[in-house]
Amino acid sequence: MRVRSRRGLGALTVAVALAATAAAPVAAQQQTVPEAVPVPEAVTTAQEMVVTANPLATRAGEQVLRNGGTAADAAVAAQTVLGLVEPQSSGLGGGAFVVWHDGASGEITTYDGREKAPLAATEDRFAGLSFTDAWQSGLSAGVPGTPALMEEIHTRHGALPWQRLFAPGLRLALGGYEMTDRTAALVDSYLANNDSCSDRLFFRDPVAFEYYTNGSETDCAAKPGGTRMRNPDYADTLKTLRDEGAEGFYTGQLAEAVVEAVQGDPHLPGDMTLEDLADYEVAERSPVCSDYRGHEVCGMGPPSSGALAVGQMLGILEHFDLGDDPLDPDAVHLFAQAGRLAFADRNLYVGDADFVTVPAEGMLDPDYLAERAGLITDEDMGTAEPGIPPGEFDPTAPQTESNESGTSHVSVVDRYGNALSMTTTVESGFGNGVMVDGGGFLLNNELTDFSFAAADAEGTPIANRVQPGKRPRSSMSPTIVRDAEGSLELVTGSPGGSRIIGYTAQSIVNVIDFGLDPQQAINVPHVQNNNGSTALEPPIPGVTLDYDVAALRAALEARGHPVTVTEQASGLSVIQVTSEGLVGGADYRRDGSIGGR
Ligand code: DON
Repeated sequence: MRVRSRRGLGALTVAVALAATAAAPVAAQQQTVPEAVPVPEAVTTAQEMVVTANPLATRAGEQVLRNGGTAADAAVAAQTVLGLVEPQSSGLGGGAFVVWHDGASGEITTYDGREKAPLAATEDRFAGLSFTDAWQSGLSAGVPGTPALMEEIHTRHGALPWQRLFAPGLRLALGGYEMTDRTAALVDSYLANNDSCSDRLFFRDPVAFEYYTNGSETDCAAKPGGTRMRNPDYADTLKTLRDEGAEGFYTGQLAEAVVEAVQGDPHLPGDMTLEDLADYEVAERSPVCSDYRGHEVCGMGPPSSGALAVGQMLGILEHFDLGDDPLDPDAVHLFAQAGRLAFADRNLYVGDADFVTVPAEGMLDPDYLAERAGLITDEDMGTAEPGIPPGEFDPTAPQTESNESGTSHVSVVDRYGNALSMTTTVESGFGNGVMVDGGGFLLNNELTDFSFAAADAEGTPIANRVQPGKRPRSSMSPTIVRDAEGSLELVTGSPGGSRIIGYTAQSIVNVIDFGLDPQQAINVPHVQNNNGSTALEPPIPGVTLDYDVAALRAALEARGHPVTVTEQASGLSVIQVTSEGLVGGADYRRDGSIGGR
């Protein structure tokens, strides 16, 4: 059955309201108010499904699946479209991680297509620079990983000919697509930081400036949402990839154009070379898996902190009964404490494991997590200190700054029983703001995910400092959950900078602990604590569950939580395997979209 309606009367309201009555926690009844505006409902399909942050990308993936393509094929097609129609979030000039569940063998494999620092990079790369100066510069651009990753997953897991996967992207690049309101609004908000149309740091690059804005010295407003956009340069890049494979990107004319764009940056030139590009390789890494209430939760290990932090949060929460209501103050308190503890360890220990020794196994050791869970009381613990997990690690100092904002998540299940979870990024909105001349794609600013400081005041090195050829620490948490027999249960992940970890963990808890379906799980307002304040998401009519945010805030403050109420930019794409078929949820905080049949 294919259900297309995105809105319906909120089933979640019923679930949560019933839960609150059954368990009768008074506070829960105060938190949960009846749904006034209908919220999105889950979509169910029989045999294949793709969820992305954009309807055109979803359609591309859906077509590939319908033609017998695998989840890997669908992800490649979706990525080519995302880079065109959601350029603020991901693209050929960025990087991505893929978690793959193989339907035939039952094996989980993870692929690291993270950007790398050029070989000329040194640990003082960002010393003395503000985040904005570093972001809007050639110094922040890492060697892109996405084209190589697309080729790798297709080679390993694809079924359709590579060339066919480019048809949807090519059609849209040449035939045109409509600029989304979201893209236009983001261009406008960045342009507002400039002194004038001619004196620009944001969209300093004339190629990106001309493509996204009205492009004159007197009128540089963003092209309005709905503008018909064509990108023949992007089509040429897709043709090169289609005909020559990833090598056509990492060598030759395109590679020269990338180097030129980095080294000729109008603000601060970078140092990426042709050799850096030619040497880029995807790394296959061991998946990081942990047990949560009898489910196996697998994700991406270092250089991502994602699976370690999500796994720690879940391993700590397993020591508690979370009750029946995801917005009950008790449940939110516990989730926030687990977040504090996980972020304390993440900030100290995690960096690229090819360069630093990360105590990955120790961080997920059940006894260690039991000890960490024992630190939780009824009151907010305040800033959590890192623990000392079993196992080897380099002496490191915690990384303090965290400046992250452009990323997208793709979840796919195919008819062969394979599943793919891919989080893909250019780091901040529109990456570093430079569009490769003749290439039609933007460069990333992923290297700002490194610690700007190389060491603390005592000189102790920070695990995530810049080093030549290193990959910056990520929060991206593409995740696949399976049951005790290894059968596929859930595919999830999100954009959102360091908040990705909380969004992903919350989606899992909402499904496993609260019994919500994927859309209901996404509709629950976000709550999280990255070892600072407890952030609550205000309700969004027609998108999230309505709730009394002031009452929840007061209940948490009574326990000593510093609380902030802030809008949150998740973009969860979630698929659950059930006896009724594949049940999908998309995030309508962005332009989420579900396809399949
Ligand atoms: O890899 C990371 O963790 C970040 N570069 C992700 C940035 C991000 O999610 C921005 N999204 N909204």
